[in-house]
Amino acid sequence: MTVAILVEALTVEFGRFRAIDDLSLAIDYGEVRAVIGPNGAGKTTLLDVISGVSRAKTGRILFDEKLELTRASEAQIARSGVRRKFQKPSVFEALTVRDNVEIGLGGAIDAVARERVDKTLETVGLAAEAGRLAGELAHGQKQWLEIAMVVVSEPKVLMLDEPVAGLTDEETERTSALIRALKSPERAVIVVEHDMDFVETVADRVTVLHEGRTLFEGSMARARADARVVDVYLGR
Ligand SMILES: Nc1ncnc2c1ncn2[C@@H]1O[C@H](COP(=O)(O)OP(=O)(O)OP(=O)(O)O)[C@@H](O)[C@H]1O
Ligand SMILES: [Mg+2]
Repeated sequence: MTVAILVEALTVEFGRFRAIDDLSLAIDYGEVRAVIGPNGAGKTTLLDVISGVSRAKTGRILFDEKLELTRASEAQIARSGVRRKFQKPSVFEALTVRDNVEIGLGGAIDAVARERVDKTLETVGLAAEAGRLAGELAHGQKQWLEIAMVVVSEPKVLMLDEPVAGLTDEETERTSALIRALKSPERAVIVVEHDMDFVETVADRVTVLHEGRTLFEGSMARARADARVVDVYLGR
C-alpha cells in the first residue's frame, strides 16, 4: 500500500530554535491521524512544512511516494491535492457561503463544478445556508464552511488545524461525524487538536509530538495510558 505522507528525518529551524527535530513518520491512505501535544510542540509547523508554507532545514517529505513536498512550491503542493485548513478561520465574510466554496475550487464554474459545490455543502451541513453571507454564520458553521472550501477540491491529503477550537459540544460532535464522513481509502486526513475526547472519536492513530519529536504513536486509548504522554501533556 502506498504511503500518503512520508516524513523522513525532518528538521525545521527558526533562527537557532529547532521547532521540528529529526522527525520521521508515515501516514497511510485511509486513515485519520491526529497530531497532538503541548503548545509549541511543533504541530502547526509540521502542517506548515507539508503545505510548503515553512521550509525544512534537513530531511524530506514525500507525498504519494513520488512528489517531494520539501522541494515543491505552495501552489504545486495544493495543486497536487495536499490541502489544509488553517488554525485561524478565514472565510470571506462579505461573500455568500456558496461563493466561498466556489473559491475553494478555483477556476471556472461549470455544471460539474456546481454539482460538486452542492454536494460539498450537503456534506458539511450548510446546504440551507448557501445563499447567506458567510459573515452571518455562527462560529461553528464558519469552521464547516472552511472545511468545505478545502474539501470541494477532493484533496488526497486533508489537514485540519484545530477544527473544533471554540465550538460547542454539539458542534464538536457534528464536526466529528463530518470528519468520519470525509474518511476514504483514497485520502489521508491529518487533524491537529487539543480536545482529546474529540480526538478519540475521529482518530485511527495519534502521534504525540513533544519538542519537535515523536513521543508516542498508537491509539488514543494507549496514549492516555502512556506515562510519558500523561507527564508532558495529558496530565497538565
Ligand atoms: N514563523 C516562526 N518563527 C519563529 N518561531 C516559530 C515560527 N513558527 C513557529 N515557531 C515556534 O516553533 C514552536 C512550535 O510552534 P507550533 O506553532 O508548531 O506549535 P503547536 O504545536 O502548533 O502549538 P499550539 O498547540 O499552541 O498551536 C513554537 O515555539 C513557536 O513559537
Ligand atoms: Mg498550532
